[in-house]
Amino acid sequence: MNLIKTKTEIEKYVSEKRKQKFSIGFVPTMGALHEGHASLIEYALKHHDYVIVSIFVNPTQFNNSSDLEKYPRTLDQDTSFLSTYGKSVSIYAPTPQEVYGNQVVSKQYNFKGIEHVMEGTHRPGHFDGVGTVLNHLFRQVNPDEAFFGEKDFQQLLIVKKLVEIEKLPLKITGCPIHRQKNGLAMSSRNARLTPQQLEEATFIYKILKQVKEDFETKSAKTLRAWVTTQFKNNPHLTLEYFEISNSTHLRPLSRKRTHQKYRAFIAAFAGEIRLIDNMAIN
Ligand code: PAJ
Repeated sequence: MNLIKTKTEIEKYVSEKRKQKFSIGFVPTMGALHEGHASLIEYALKHHDYVIVSIFVNPTQFNNSSDLEKYPRTLDQDTSFLSTYGKSVSIYAPTPQEVYGNQVVSKQYNFKGIEHVMEGTHRPGHFDGVGTVLNHLFRQVNPDEAFFGEKDFQQLLIVKKLVEIEKLPLKITGCPIHRQKNGLAMSSRNARLTPQQLEEATFIYKILKQVKEDFETKSAKTLRAWVTTQFKNNPHLTLEYFEISNSTHLRPLSRKRTHQKYRAFIAAFAGEIRLIDNMAIN
C-alpha cells in the first residue's frame, strides 16, 4: 500500500505511471472508508491499471463547524482497509495546505441551477466547496476517469458540470448505491449512529421503496404529502426534505412526462446525524 501525502509526490507517481502507458482511475473520498467506497474502488480497478483513493476531509464543504469537527478521521483503519488491494491502489492523504495552498477558501461556481435545490438549499456553500476541492484534486492527481457514488446523486451531477466549466480532461462515472442487507445506504456518518438508530434509519429506504412502487399511480403532490405524514408519525427521524425530481437537472416534478427519468430524494436527521438517500423511481 502506497501512502502519498504531498502534491509533488502524487504528481510524480502519476506521471511515472503515465510514461509507462498505464491508465489511472480516481476515487475521491473523505475517508472513514466502508463497503460503499470499496464498491467504487472495485469499479475503478476493473477499468484502470492503477487507482488513487484520496482521503481528505474538505473543510470548505462543511457549512456547520461541529459537523466538520465530528467527521470521523480514521486514516490508520482506512489504510488497512485498502491494503488488501496491494500495489494497484494508492492513498493520497494531503493536508489542507497541500490541497489549497495558503488560502483554504472556495471558488464561486455557477452550476446552472443544480446547486440551488435540495443539498444546495440546506447546506449553503456546500457545492462551491465540493467543486473547489475537486478542481484542485483533479489537477493534482490528473486521472483518466473519476468515480462517484449515486448515493450523492446531486454531487455527481455537480461534478459533471464542474469538469465542463473547468475544461478538465477526465471522464466522470457514476456508480450505484451500495446498501446494507436491510436497505440502509452505507455512509461514513453511519459510524456515528447507535445500533438502535442504525435499525431505525432503514425507514428512509422503506419510504423510498414505497414511493417507487406508488409512483406510476399517484401524483407527486400526493406522494409528498404521504412522505411528510410518515415522517411526522416517526419519533426517531426528522425529515429535512423530500423531493421527486427530474434526474437530469433535478427540477422538482410538477407534471410527469413520458421518457423522463425521475428520482426520489430524502434528507433526514437521526438525532443530530444527517442522512441522505435517493432512488430511481421509474
Ligand atoms: P464521501 O462522503 O467520503 O464519499 C466519497 C464517494 O463515495 C462519493 O462519490 C460518494 O457518493 C461515494 N459513496 C458514499 N457512500 C456510498 C454508497 N453507499 N454507495 C456508493 N457510493 C457511495 O462525497 C464525498 O466524500 C466528498 O464530497 C468528496 C467528493 C470526496 C469531495 O470532498
